[in-house]
Amino acid sequence: MYQSKIVGIGHFVPENVVTNKDIESLMDTSDEWIQERTGIKERRWVVPGDGNTTSSMGTKAARKAISQANLLPSDIDFIIFATLSPDYYFPGPGVMVQKELGITEVGALDVRNQCSGFIYSLSVADQFIKTGMYKNILVIGSELHSGGLEKSSRGRGVSVIFGDGAGAVVVQRSENNTHGILSTHLHSEGLHAEELALIGPSTGRWVPEIIEVNDPNDTSYYPHMNGNFVFKHAVVRFSEVIMEALNANSLQTSDIGILIPHQANLRISQFIQKQMKLNDAQVFNNIMHYGNTTAASIPIALSEANEQGLIVKDKIVCLAAFGSGFTWASALIRW
Ligand code: ACO
Repeated sequence: MYQSKIVGIGHFVPENVVTNKDIESLMDTSDEWIQERTGIKERRWVVPGDGNTTSSMGTKAARKAISQANLLPSDIDFIIFATLSPDYYFPGPGVMVQKELGITEVGALDVRNQCSGFIYSLSVADQFIKTGMYKNILVIGSELHSGGLEKSSRGRGVSVIFGDGAGAVVVQRSENNTHGILSTHLHSEGLHAEELALIGPSTGRWVPEIIEVNDPNDTSYYPHMNGNFVFKHAVVRFSEVIMEALNANSLQTSDIGILIPHQANLRISQFIQKQMKLNDAQVFNNIMHYGNTTAASIPIALSEANEQGLIVKDKIVCLAAFGSGFTWASALIRW
């Protein structure tokens, strides 16, 4: 069996910064409420017509990751793309990235696991590398939320949280079996699928029906979140899945060099930090600047932590996520 290691990381966020003050002019909310409940100060939202799409942002992040890995796009032998906001209903954005990077005929897989999508994708890459099937896998998480949010007071419970952006890594085959991805842990609980979901359009309700009914009060094509319910599950599942990863590798919370939690809410990260008795240097957060970028949040945070010199050789890096599905996951890496 081979080992997998991350050899390149990159991220891209659109230029347009949207502050909480900017959002105050769109809906009945306040900078104070958003900061107090979520920790978010600003996020990036694409400007319609600026050329950014989920796949184009993913491509930009991917180019940086490939370059940092000292590879060429032609060295990539498999692509995995995680998103809940694909450019098209079909095909998925994996093939769009392939086209943009000029990579010919390698497999491209799209993953639909929302906030846990990046760790699910990393896990798939890890298995493919370990079994010897591929050598250099490009894993991307990218989201363009802003175009699909309800930017009015009715949608304020959701719209203030989400931001746009992309992150990517290159996962490579390695023969060093003490370093790299140590383990990944994946879970889901479909019982709560509708607590955080975007239902329409769907195979139960196609666009022609929606157009015919033309109901301005139909909110089914906006994301719906039972925030409190999600929050309560998130704090429990985050801790469980981090402990599962540590136990699987006979490690303790004090061994964590850096925890990069999915950036859903600063209060969730702080709760986990306190519960696990981690110090400030052990937990990385950047939700203040980007909001929740779903499948992109972990690779963006990993990329920023790397740029800040926080991801160094021998360090234990723990990734953990919880979100719609419900799905939750963790990955433990010895860098
Ligand atoms: N501005 C001002 N007031 C608001 C806003 C807003 N933007 N949004 C809601 N409110 C009001 C509500 O109407 C409510 O008013 P009421 O008490 O008069 O009824 C009050 O604020 C409290 O609302 P809550 O929903 O209880 O607020 P809460 O403290 O739970 O915060 C939040 C909401 C931020 C959404 C929180 O519940 C949360 O972060 N949940 C978890 C999110 C998460 O982890 N998601 C998973 C990942 S996302 C994914 O997978 C796609």
